[in-house]
Amino acid sequence: MTLGQILDLAIKIGMQADPRTEKEVLKQLKRIKSNFSKLSPKEREYYPKEKLTNPYPDSLIHSGNPQKKIKKILMTIDVTEAKLLVARELGADAVIAHHPLGKSLALLGDAMKLQFYLYEKYGVPINIIEGINRKKIEEVKRSIHPGNHYLTVDTAKIISANLMNVHTPADNLVYNFLENRIKASKLIFVKDILKMLYEIPEYQEAAKRGSPPKLFAGSGKNHCGKVIASEITGGTDGGSKIYPHLANVGIGSVISMHQSEGHTKEAEKSFINVVVASHIASDSLGMNLFADELEKRGIEIIPTGGFIRVSRIKNKVGETINPV
Ligand SMILES: [Fe+2]
Repeated sequence: MTLGQILDLAIKIGMQADPRTEKEVLKQLKRIKSNFSKLSPKEREYYPKEKLTNPYPDSLIHSGNPQKKIKKILMTIDVTEAKLLVARELGADAVIAHHPLGKSLALLGDAMKLQFYLYEKYGVPINIIEGINRKKIEEVKRSIHPGNHYLTVDTAKIISANLMNVHTPADNLVYNFLENRIKASKLIFVKDILKMLYEIPEYQEAAKRGSPPKLFAGSGKNHCGKVIASEITGGTDGGSKIYPHLANVGIGSVISMHQSEGHTKEAEKSFINVVVASHIASDSLGMNLFADELEKRGIEIIPTGGFIRVSRIKNKVGETINPV
């Protein structure tokens, strides 16, 4: 596969696992293109063109030729300049990180719009979600704005390293995986959610590493009610004012990747139980589901940078390839 085909595959499987239908994702892309066509020539010049073709602008190729054939990938949750050299040392043709950097980090706020559709799916009226999340998206954009986003990207370019990142498509895979697990499990109490997560190898490994699935709000003895994996995809944390509205539409418990203290306090006020699956293990789960697709196509994966590699292909179900 080429570097470009790898990104295309990530986008394709990310769309299949998206809380929206593929039709909805494409409709949104069409809307972006139509808005772009109405811009002035000057505005068009500065517009990040990736947004016109990629529904996940937090996932991009940052350095390298999209036509370059890739056989071995160093896969990491976070990329640093040192990792680019480690990849070279180990003979990897490319580095794929999970977390955004460069332009994909600058555009992270755009990925958060997915949350509008996510919460609408659970029955929260769109006007309420927009009211809460538009403000939050602006907050996130302001907090990201001052960063030196191109620090590692520039190094990748100067040493001609192939570098890309896959963020929301991988998080969509986790969302889909956990929503399916919720449906297949008989969850009665909050402790059953924790038990369900402990059956997943990435979370078992995370527990051994000191970051187990953890109850942040509520009690294990509580009835869990309707459980949703709403805080898994959509860029980063949405607005904390969402919880009373989730309670109003009949949600009892939320599975989250990570949660701020402010969010936990707001969830408690609405008697929503919160189970935090743990961040890096959740990111690993998404990257594993993506890496499996690459392995099936003959690409070798070298896991590093916090990435807990678990392959689910063929006879390797549940095997932790890089145990600590
Ligand atoms: Fe993450």
